[in-house]
Amino acid sequence: MDTLLASFDMVIDRSGMSSDKWSKYPENIIPMWIADMDFDAPDCIKEALSQRINEGVFGYTHTPKALVSAIQNHLTSHYGWSISSASLSHLPGLVCALYISVRAFSNEGDSVVVPGPVYFHLTKAPILAQRELTSVDMVEENGRWVPDMAAFEQACAKPNSKMILLCNPHNPGGTVYTKDELLSIHALAEKYDLIVVSDEIHCDLILDDLPHVPFASLNADAANRSITLMAPSKTFNVAGLGYAFAVIENAKVRQRFNNEKAGLVPSPNMLGYTAAIAAYEGGQEWHQAMLKYLATNRDLLADRLAATPIKMLHIEATYLAWLDVSALKLENPHKFFLDAGVGMSCGSEFGNPDFLRLNFGCPKVTLEEVISRMEKAIQ
Ligand SMILES: Cc1ncc(COP(=O)(O)O)c(C=O)c1O
Repeated sequence: MDTLLASFDMVIDRSGMSSDKWSKYPENIIPMWIADMDFDAPDCIKEALSQRINEGVFGYTHTPKALVSAIQNHLTSHYGWSISSASLSHLPGLVCALYISVRAFSNEGDSVVVPGPVYFHLTKAPILAQRELTSVDMVEENGRWVPDMAAFEQACAKPNSKMILLCNPHNPGGTVYTKDELLSIHALAEKYDLIVVSDEIHCDLILDDLPHVPFASLNADAANRSITLMAPSKTFNVAGLGYAFAVIENAKVRQRFNNEKAGLVPSPNMLGYTAAIAAYEGGQEWHQAMLKYLATNRDLLADRLAATPIKMLHIEATYLAWLDVSALKLENPHKFFLDAGVGMSCGSEFGNPDFLRLNFGCPKVTLEEVISRMEKAIQ
C-alpha cells in the first residue's frame, strides 16, 4: 500500500499528450478544472493494453464476455447489486446516454427535473432537445448539499414532467445520497410516474466510509423505471479510452434506449473494453490506495481553506471541491484565480457563479502549490 500511495506523488508531464486538461490554459496556470486526474493508470490496465496492442489486428470488436462478468462481479461485490447480463448497454462514453435518454423518454416541451447546480451535461441534454429544464436547488443541510425536497415534489408534480436526471454521487458538491434520500426521490418518481436516469459515474470515488446505493437497487419499481449510468473512466483515470455502460432492467425501456442510440452512437473502442476488464478484475489495490490519497488531499484542502473566507462543505465523494467564494466579493472569481495561476472551473458552468470547482485529483505537491497561490491572491 505504501509504495502505491507514494506512486501518486509522482508529477507527470502531460504537456505533450494533447491533454484537454493541460492544453486549456497557458503554462503558468495550473489546471484544476476538468474531471481528469493527474495520476498514472494502474499497472494492470497498462499491461492489458500493451498485451492487446501487441496482438495487433484492430478490427471491429464486440463486447467481450469477460467484461460482462467483470461488471456483474464489481456491482455485486461493491454494492450488493445483482444485474442480468441482458440489462447492460455498452457505450463509448456516459454523456451521450444522458442525451439519448432525454430524447427517448420525453417529447419537445416536456419537463425534465434536474437537481443542481450540477455537471452541465445534465442540464444541457434537456435544453438542446427543446425540453423544459425544471431545476431543483441543492441546499445546505447538516453540512451537505441535498435537493430541496419540497421544490423537488413541486417540480415532479408539473403535469408535463416526464423524467428526473440524478447525479449520484453529486458533481459538484460530492454528496453521496443516502438510501433514505433515494427512497424519497423514488417515491416522487413513482407518484408522478417519471423515468429516472441516474448518472453514477462517480460511485467508486467515495472518500468516506459511506455506501453507494444504486438507484435501481432500491426496489423493483425503481429498477423498472430507471437507467443507471456507470463507467470505470473517472475511477481509474481512463476517460480517454471511451467506455461506459448503462444498466436498464426493464426490457421495454432498454429497447427504447437502444433504438434511440442505434446507428448514431458507435460501439466502444476495443481498448476501452480491455481497460475496463483489467480495472474491474485487477485494479482493487490501486483503487483503495487512490481513494486514501484523495481523502488526504481533500483534508489538506479543507484544512488550509478553513483559514480563508472560502467556504467548502465536506466532500463525501469525487475529487471535485465545490468552493463558495462569495465572501471574497470578486467581480469575476474565475479570472481572479486565473490571474493567480490557478485554472479552476467556473461555478456558472454548473449553475452558480459564486462558486468555483477545484479538482484535487493531483499529486500533493501540485495541490500545495495551488493552495499557496490561492492564499497569496486572497491576501
Ligand atoms: C457526472 C458526470 N457524468 C459524466 C461525465 C463524463 O462522462 P463521459 O466522459 O464518459 O462521457 C462526467 C465527467 O466529468 C461527470 O462528472
